[in-house]
This record gives sequence, C-alpha cells and structure tokens, in this order.
Amino acid sequence: MTVAMPVLEEGELSTDRISELYDEIRELARTRNAVILAHNYQRPEVQDIADYVGDSLGLSRQAMATEADVIAFCGVHFMAETASILSPEQRVLLPDLRAGCSLAASITAEDVRRWRAEFPDHVAVGYVNTTAEVKAELDYCCTSGNVVAIIDAIPEDRGILFLPDFFLGAHIKRLRPHREVEVWMGECHVHKEINARTVNAQRCEHPGAEVLVHPECGCAGQLIYEAGLGDLDAKLVHVTSTEGMIRFAESSPASTFIVATEVGILHRLKKQLPDKEFLPADPRAVCQYMKAITLEGLRDSLLYDRHVITVPEDIRTRAKAAIDRMVSIG
Ligand code: 13P
Ligand code: SF4
Repeated sequence: MTVAMPVLEEGELSTDRISELYDEIRELARTRNAVILAHNYQRPEVQDIADYVGDSLGLSRQAMATEADVIAFCGVHFMAETASILSPEQRVLLPDLRAGCSLAASITAEDVRRWRAEFPDHVAVGYVNTTAEVKAELDYCCTSGNVVAIIDAIPEDRGILFLPDFFLGAHIKRLRPHREVEVWMGECHVHKEINARTVNAQRCEHPGAEVLVHPECGCAGQLIYEAGLGDLDAKLVHVTSTEGMIRFAESSPASTFIVATEVGILHRLKKQLPDKEFLPADPRAVCQYMKAITLEGLRDSLLYDRHVITVPEDIRTRAKAAIDRMVSIG
C-alpha cells in the first residue's frame, strides 16, 4: 500500500535560530509542564532538545511513567497514539499530522478481523507500528526490541499471526523455525530499500566493520543467508532494534559500524560514542514522516496546543490490553 508522503522543506537552521527556538520551547515546556519525547530517527536538533530519546519500546515506557501534564511527542502518529493509550490522563501532542508511517498504513482493523476469522485458533501478534484500531484487534503488541520474548511467551502449540512487517516476520521465522507463524505482507518504504548490495558495497570499503541491521530492512534476510553460506562472517552481522544498536555499539570493542536503518540514529550514535565511526548502510534511508517534525513545529505545538492525539475509549481499552501483555513480558 502507498500513502501520501509529506513534501519537506530541507532548510538548515542556523545555530542562532536553533538556540532561539530552544529558549522558546524550554519556556513553553516549563509553563505547560510538558515532557518532550523523541524517537531515534528524529532530526538532530529535535533529538537534542528532548527529555528522552529512544526506540518505540523506550518511548512507550516513558509515556507510561511520566507525571507531566503534556507529552510533546516527536515521532510518528502511531507512537503518539500509543502514548495516549498508555497515558489517557496526559495531553499528547503530535507537532505535525503529516507524521504517518507507510508500515502502519499497510493493514487495517478490518484486515485483521478477516485474517483472524481464517485462523481462529492462532494468536495475533502485532508490531507497535500499527494504528490503535489495529492494536485493539490483537492479543499481543510487540516492538523490534522485544518480539522474540513475546513469541517465546506464547505456548508452543499455538500458531501465530504476525503483522504487519514481512521482513520482521521473516526474521522471527528464522530465529524460531519450529513455530507456526503466518506473516502479513506489509513493509516500510524506507527499510525495504536498504538492500544487501548497498550494505555489501560499504562492507568492501570497511571489511572489519560490524554491521547493525534493523529487522525491518530488506537486507536482513539476505545478509543472514550470506553468513550461512560463509560469504560473510556471521559474527559481524547483528539484527536488532534501534535501541539495541546503541547498546551493542556501546559494549562492542569494534571501532567502525555500518548502520542499516533510518539515518537519524547516526546522530545519537555519534553523540553518545564520539570515538567510534558510524557509517550509513544507505544514506538515502530517510523517513520523511519522521522528518516532518521540526523545531518550529514543536514550538507551535506547545504554543497553540496542537495536534491533540486521542483514542476512543472502547478502542483504547482493547488496544491497551495488547500493549499491557507486551509490557508485562519484556
Ligand atoms: P524501533 O522500535 O526499533 O525504534 O523502530 C521503530 C520504527 O519505526 C522503525 O522504522
Ligand atoms: Fe514507519 Fe518506516 Fe518511517 Fe519507521 S522508518 S516510521 S516504519 S515509515
């Protein structure tokens, strides 16, 4: 499925403009008692003003724990919805409604109902990159950071419907070949384009580099296949969530890493580990939805109280049950 992509103005902000906007945003956040949460793919200047930067799982946990009155969510729509599901008392603001997600748009609640009717005894597990309506139809929610723990918590004799990401589903099938897993054919338009050819071109230039691969990538299966054939040292390939990449790079003795995911994460990696080198597997891997959030947008969101993200109560309680089951496992 294709969804309309925001057309983005690429203008760089000057350092003076950034610090002016920071002053305004900090003052607004103080007066409104707001916490600013940002995903690892956000623009560098947005990450740098956030109170917390992390992956989908970390952001959900922060949203659940916060005592702030307002959550200014610098991420995409389904993430802000998840924050609203977990923290209905808080006012959740998404600075730009163009911040959608091609993967979340690949399945509807009606699709899930039809699929479940075909496999009535299967357990439905859905990636957090889904709308609230879709989450309301699930047994379990999961993220790239905890998907294996969730699958392992489901009794071995139960079949699983995994949605919506085809590549993450294929990754689960590789890791747990004995499980019966049906996989939805959804994909992220950014990650599917990160292919083994581009990653291999980088590997040729940096032969000793560790390769960090997000499981949504089109290349994940190919690289693991090559490792299986012995064409690539399996120890150098690590398939993990965005937060998993940061933890891995922190603890690894290696000094160079090829990073196969959206390029926004390079800012955090370089900032947190300035003595190591991080190279994008594909510099074109930019998520326009994530980049729809700008400092001006964040400032206006706090100033004009927009755009408030809410979820109807009946959907919220059903979606929360799937998220709660996830959080109780990992
Ligand atoms: P993470 O859960 O690893 O942060 O990924 C979210 C996402 O949108 C990946 O494209
Ligand atoms: Fe969605 Fe892909 Fe963007 Fe992540 S990178 S928010 S999965 S479109």
